[in-house]
Amino acid sequence: MNRHLLSINDLSPQDALGILNTASELSKISDGPMKKLPTLRGRTVVNLFFEDSTRTRISFESAAKRLSADVINFSAKGSSVSKGESLKDTAQTLQAMGADAVVIRHGASGAAQRLADSGWISASVINAGDGTHEHPTQALLDAYTIRSKFPQYQDSFAGLKVGIVGDILHSRVARSNVLLLTKLGAKVSLVAPPTLIPVGVTDWNVEVSYDLDEVVKKVDVLMMLRVQSERMKDSFFPSEREYSRGYGLDLARLNALQEHAIVMHPGPMNRGLEISAESADSHRSVVLAQVANGVLVRMAVLYQLLGGAALTGEVSA
Ligand code: NCD
Repeated sequence: MNRHLLSINDLSPQDALGILNTASELSKISDGPMKKLPTLRGRTVVNLFFEDSTRTRISFESAAKRLSADVINFSAKGSSVSKGESLKDTAQTLQAMGADAVVIRHGASGAAQRLADSGWISASVINAGDGTHEHPTQALLDAYTIRSKFPQYQDSFAGLKVGIVGDILHSRVARSNVLLLTKLGAKVSLVAPPTLIPVGVTDWNVEVSYDLDEVVKKVDVLMMLRVQSERMKDSFFPSEREYSRGYGLDLARLNALQEHAIVMHPGPMNRGLEISAESADSHRSVVLAQVANGVLVRMAVLYQLLGGAALTGEVSA
């Protein structure tokens, strides 16, 4: 595996499955009496967040701490970045502090790559979301969640049907998921209004549909995406009501899913817009499992990138 995790393209199917398998091992250890492992003791992980985040930042923090790493949280709001300090100066400060891994979230697509290629730091760079480009650890935790719900898809997703619904255009989660799911062999259908389908989608190895009622009947996994209003400078659909009617997961569509199908959402959810409250809270929803699995998968990523000591059940102080 590479020294950095910037894109799902950095991973072969074997690399991705290796991360998921490590996360499974970690889940067995985490279920036992010892919550904390000594594996990354003495290492420093910096969370460098230029965009708001709740679950991703907390998830990385919790993952690093459970491996006994030291964690520095650097949020751009209230830091010298808001006074005009550049990414370069910030990176060099982190380097001087001895960061071993930098987890970066940034509003600009390509920011994580820029940091990794810059030579400003020697740390491993992990992309925690760059603009509308990629969010690889989200795709990995989604794959882990799918695998844990469907044990028949342990080593390949061949035969698995996934529908990804909503604001594909602005979604880094959709991009990383399409790359990973198709890499593992799943068949992916994107469903969205034409205005929210990216231009280059013909190169993505997916089907595109504008009819959610058709797609819900066929899929094993229905992944709903947040409508990313903060990234919309124009109006992409006539009204919220119209969006919900065409592309929201309401009770009727929830009931039209196959018996075994699951509903996913990366959060934060706009209840009442892309997903109704009863769908979000239904027994098919694995939203909270996604959050819990996020910690395990990020532990696995940190462990693999930083080459931690062997995974043992030793309790750390
Ligand atoms: C996603 C993100 O930030 O890209 N959220 C997350 O990481 N849990 C999706 C979103 O914000 O809609």
